[in-house]
Amino acid sequence: MLRINSEAPNFTAETSQGTINFHDWIGDGWAILFSHPKDFTPVCTTELGYMAGLQPEFEKRNTKIIGLSVDPISSHSKWLVDIEETQGHKVNYPMIGDTQLKVAQLYDMLPAEAGDTCEGRTPANNATVRTVFVIGPDKKIKLMLTYPMSTGRNFDEVLRVLDSLQLTAKEQVSTPVNWKPGEDVVIAGTVSDEDAKKKYPQGWKSPKPYLRLVSLDKKPEPVGAK
Ligand code: BEZ
Repeated sequence: MLRINSEAPNFTAETSQGTINFHDWIGDGWAILFSHPKDFTPVCTTELGYMAGLQPEFEKRNTKIIGLSVDPISSHSKWLVDIEETQGHKVNYPMIGDTQLKVAQLYDMLPAEAGDTCEGRTPANNATVRTVFVIGPDKKIKLMLTYPMSTGRNFDEVLRVLDSLQLTAKEQVSTPVNWKPGEDVVIAGTVSDEDAKKKYPQGWKSPKPYLRLVSLDKKPEPVGAK
């Protein structure tokens, strides 16, 4: 069973951009793997188009994106044409053709009893293949979000979580509810007040001793400033 901090299982797969070894493809950066039950499904069409539009934002964050659908890449290539036509964005990221349900099973999105072929499978019996995985440079799973087939995913939220994950990987902070980049962050409980004073000489708000909120943007006041 996969959990946050599990190693993202490695695999070799055919994609719309050639064969990849997943871990090698990730390289030293971050990655997002997002899955789809079947090609030519309406909600997924909108999702893949939106991700194509967001790809430059992920690139700015040193993050590669890769889709997966339980159909062959010959079918993906036809679907990708429709996606560009209807969603206005060309899909430039690879799409895995998971014809043997290998990745879907490896990532616990389908049970072993689902067998080893996509043939004869319907969107409904692949409906659980709708997960977003965020994977760190250490190849560990940082986030898993599984959506129902009737609800399009919020990929702006995935970008927001990625910003939080990347910030909290380098600073001893966490991010509060609905946080967006630039807003106050929470000083980690592992940082003593004494150390926090050194790190954040600008000071912080502390409505409770366990809740210390600091702005990372605020520069310390110059000495002698009024
Ligand atoms: C979709 O509309 O994308 C969809 C339909 C059925 C199952 C899964 C996804």
